Amino acid sequence: MLLRPLSHLALWAIYASARESAWNGAYTANSNAVGPFRPYYVPQGTTSYDSTSPLIRYHKKWIKVRSNDFIGHSARATQQAGAYVTFTFYGTGIEWFGSMDPRHGFADVYIDGDLIERANAWRDTPRRMSQQLIFWKYDLHCGPHKIKVYNVGTHPGVTGLAIIDVDAFVVTRYGGCKLPQAYGHYFGSSSPSLKGRQANEPHWSLNQLGSTGVAAMQLVVISESHVLIIDKVEHNPLTIDGHPAWAALYNLKTHAVRPIHIRSNSFCAGGTFLGNGSLISVGGNPVVEDYTGAADFGDIDGMQSVRIFDPCDSPKAKNCRLYDDPKRIRLATPRWYNTVIRLDDGSALIIGGSKKGGWINNATVNNPTIEYFPPKDVRGSKGMPIRLPFLVDTLNSNLFPIAFLLPDGKVLIVANQDAVIYDRHDNTERRLPKIPNGVRVTYPMAGGGVLLPLSPETDYKAEILLCGGSTIDDERRGYDISSQEPATSQCSRLVLTEDGIRAGWQIEEMPQARTMPDLVLLPTGDIVIVNGAGSGISGYGNVKGQVGSSNADLPVTTPVLYRPQAPAGLRFTEANIPSSPIPRMYHSVATLTPSGDIMIAGSNPNLDRSEVKYGTEYRVEWLHPPYMMSKRPEITDKIKSIGYKQDLFIKVNLHEIVGEVRVVLMDLGFVTHAVHANSRMVYLEAVLQNDQVKVTGPPNSFIYPPGPGFLYIVVDSVPSFGKKVMVGDGGDPPVDPKVTEYMMHHTKASSG
Ligand SMILES: *[C@@H]1O[C@H](CO)[C@@H](O)[C@H](O)[C@H]1NC(C)=O
Ligand SMILES: *[C@@H]1O[C@H](CO)[C@@H](O)[C@H](O)[C@H]1NC(C)=O
Repeated sequence: MLLRPLSHLALWAIYASARESAWNGAYTANSNAVGPFRPYYVPQGTTSYDSTSPLIRYHKKWIKVRSNDFIGHSARATQQAGAYVTFTFYGTGIEWFGSMDPRHGFADVYIDGDLIERANAWRDTPRRMSQQLIFWKYDLHCGPHKIKVYNVGTHPGVTGLAIIDVDAFVVTRYGGCKLPQAYGHYFGSSSPSLKGRQANEPHWSLNQLGSTGVAAMQLVVISESHVLIIDKVEHNPLTIDGHPAWAALYNLKTHAVRPIHIRSNSFCAGGTFLGNGSLISVGGNPVVEDYTGAADFGDIDGMQSVRIFDPCDSPKAKNCRLYDDPKRIRLATPRWYNTVIRLDDGSALIIGGSKKGGWINNATVNNPTIEYFPPKDVRGSKGMPIRLPFLVDTLNSNLFPIAFLLPDGKVLIVANQDAVIYDRHDNTERRLPKIPNGVRVTYPMAGGGVLLPLSPETDYKAEILLCGGSTIDDERRGYDISSQEPATSQCSRLVLTEDGIRAGWQIEEMPQARTMPDLVLLPTGDIVIVNGAGSGISGYGNVKGQVGSSNADLPVTTPVLYRPQAPAGLRFTEANIPSSPIPRMYHSVATLTPSGDIMIAGSNPNLDRSEVKYGTEYRVEWLHPPYMMSKRPEITDKIKSIGYKQDLFIKVNLHEIVGEVRVVLMDLGFVTHAVHANSRMVYLEAVLQNDQVKVTGPPNSFIYPPGPGFLYIVVDSVPSFGKKVMVGDGGDPPVDPKVTEYMMHHTKASSG
């Protein structure tokens, strides 16, 4: 049925009568005021153009509608199919704000003549919701662009006349939107970087494509096609249930992003997969009680949260959700900036953190304990937290400790200037030599740590590499520290055997100093170091000479490759690796993807979304090692799982590549704050037999703890696409209901 067009007066009356209610109409645990939620937000550094701006051109029939609910008290609306609006702007992104309700409908949004999306302003709500973000795009190149919003005239409710309106456009201009000439090639306009080289000869490249929609503070690859991104509660453009989202799924194939609902504030949580393939997100932040708006966002206290994300491997990542019910599942104690790793029984070890959100840790707020999920009884602990003196002795700069399960089942923990090998069964610590030269490697003097590849040829000898951080004294106050104090270029390596420990830390220098680096293991066994700052310290709003709110400055924008097998002195190279025009410092991330390139996202040294210098960065970059351009081997079999010591015959197509054939099992890690928890690479025993590789599963669960991993075949240092596999039997981690009950009974939830 087709509806008859409304008279202008009737259209106007719809706007005059409809009033919106609160976004969720309910009071939440820790807030006392609920107001109407309106996503309209003009981050510092962006420009808002009201619907009355002469730069906005309305074509065909539009009327001006007035209400105090509108930005500037007015909007322009049309119910004519085919009516459209155009707006030419100079920037890197655009947002369209307008109203949503059952009378609003679809609009086709074009940028520079290309149809980008069919946006949907239809919402099944009784009341009109105004100042809603209907469309956004942030990954345009810096320059002039034209947006066109075209009223399709329909909506999903009924076929008939649908309204669209324009309340305002907000233009974003990342990084000042003044790109140096040298970056021309970066956006694919020309390719001066190919000078003197065959265009098809494999080389490094970097491109920008896609937006994360929520700031990428935490990032984890959950399947061959999707990455889960978790942020804190803030004014992200991606919305869910009528309020900004703070988690999203990013599709690696289509670059589409979809919001994920989270109940509690996940700011500064850690996370890991369990042995059964579920992911847990652990700890977080109390409800934020400033203008970021507890009432608006409806989040609950996340300090003791254990959020569960069940395996979600379907190519479309359907029905993926984060389950969060603090009454049923939670930590014993509050943890902000904790590290979580997976153990050999498929359970999680949760290390340290602070009991209260803040900045640098101190004795008052420190949580110098570990606990397990599911809770364990270790020497009579009955699921209660176990004190670790190491976490007292490493104050103040000891948040987000760097930790790895070692091939003998013990756990390496690095914090501040120290390292320890922890035996969780005996609850004993073995202290290791201090990191040389006063270098601190954990928050807020964040360095990066990686367990070098484990290989049967060296009998799985473990070796840790730590790079970057700072020598700033962690007893100084924020007002005394400057954003200009240099980071360290030091990398330190320690072999974790008796001989290695006796020989002590081996020191090397990166070509550039960095704090907050991301160390990303490649299937070739090399490590790419990206992101970070040349000076200052993690966090925002704490130190002298802040840039915007950033405690750090001098973004380091050239990635460096580290080849652990090369002779000392020859391990680093920046040769032919392109620089990025995008600063990525605090709250930035990077990960290897199943396809073998490196996804780089985030940077947000801000309390809430901002676009002043070092603003909130939603653009994604992709760093392609030269092997991405080579002919690549291929795993042609479907493989779902691999057992310990189990022989598996995997069909492969080597595409006539000759050279050494290796098979690597990788954990791509849970990335946040420069910590790549669980990041791991194990060489599996492998023999090529015609078109098959006989692969033997890892020798035991210390070398690769049970849970998900990615399997790559590497021929002549060129890896295949990585296949997701379950290592072990996929069984649940051990649960002792009595221990869980004891812990729940004897501890209190911060979220009430
Ligand atoms: C300890 O840290 C908390 C949280 O950042 C802060 O509120 C408190 O003032 C600090 N205490 C001292 C003694 O520095
Ligand atoms: C995995 O184990 C955890 C902890 O017992 C449980 O909460 C979760 O539901 C399990 N996942 C699956 C898919 O069964």
